[in-house]
Amino acid sequence: MTTTTAPPPTIAAEPLGAPRASLGDTTVDELDPAVPPAPVPFSERLRTRTRSGHGTSSRAGFMSDLMRGTCTRDDLVRLLAQYWHVYRALEQAAVGAAAHPVAGAFVTDRLTRLPSLEADLAHLAGPGWRDRLDAVPATVEYVDRLRGPASSSPTAFVAHHYTRYLGDLSGGQHIGRALRQRYGLLDEATTFFTFDGVPDPTTFKDEYRARLDSLPWGEADEEAMVTEVLHAYDLNARLLAELDAERGLGAAPGPATEGPSTAVATGASS
Ligand code: HEM
Repeated sequence: MTTTTAPPPTIAAEPLGAPRASLGDTTVDELDPAVPPAPVPFSERLRTRTRSGHGTSSRAGFMSDLMRGTCTRDDLVRLLAQYWHVYRALEQAAVGAAAHPVAGAFVTDRLTRLPSLEADLAHLAGPGWRDRLDAVPATVEYVDRLRGPASSSPTAFVAHHYTRYLGDLSGGQHIGRALRQRYGLLDEATTFFTFDGVPDPTTFKDEYRARLDSLPWGEADEEAMVTEVLHAYDLNARLLAELDAERGLGAAPGPATEGPSTAVATGASS
């Protein structure tokens, strides 16, 4: 007497359109060594690995108040004054980086912010705006970083370029809108947040990320860039915390308790 046993179920026996056999969230394709996982582009790894730094910067009390509409005109002047130092140093570093075969690909006049900052400061603080340029300690440190490592190392330069300009073309666009809507500021007073040379920020950012993805850099360069972007986020967060301390809010961070510093020369603007 013969007994018939049913064959074991196979994936091929599944009807078309049925859910794929899986182990939890892992599909059979992912287990197949013949199907290598798609590599994660560098720009995506960079964003993921620095996300915590972005969170700290963007959740700063100063930024929340600015977006909510509870800052004063003076607060905005103080923020733009810090940015004046930062962008003066960053855009000076860009002049040096322009001739570099790799870093130079990121440099473009379409991003230049220093003239916009000067126009906005003149609009908001009047002709004496240069008297309002005291730098808080984190700004002094930021400028040192831009004049030092970011002016001699391509990875540090690209890290700082990315952190500021991609931020300006992302969250910066929301901030500019909030300034116009909640504070009734005119376009002429918020030109820092609008890029005449970049009418389509989304396309520009996509192209920028593609450029990051095609960098001929190895693992050590990637590590250096991630570290420097996290450093840039930290400098931005401390700069904002020190502005909060200046207006009597938040915990006074470290040396800021000694009062604002003017260690960054404010004389020549370029
Ligand atoms: C209120 C404050 C902020 C808001 C609401 C905000 C919001 C955003 C949003 C929505 C994005 C994603 C945009 C996209 O995927 O295209 C973004 C990206 C970014 N932000 Fe912010 N942000 C803020 C503050 C900052 C600060 C202080 C910095 C540092 C200077 C910064 C740097 C960046 C960078 C570098 C990116 C690009 C990340 C990437 O796609 O690789 N942001 N931000």
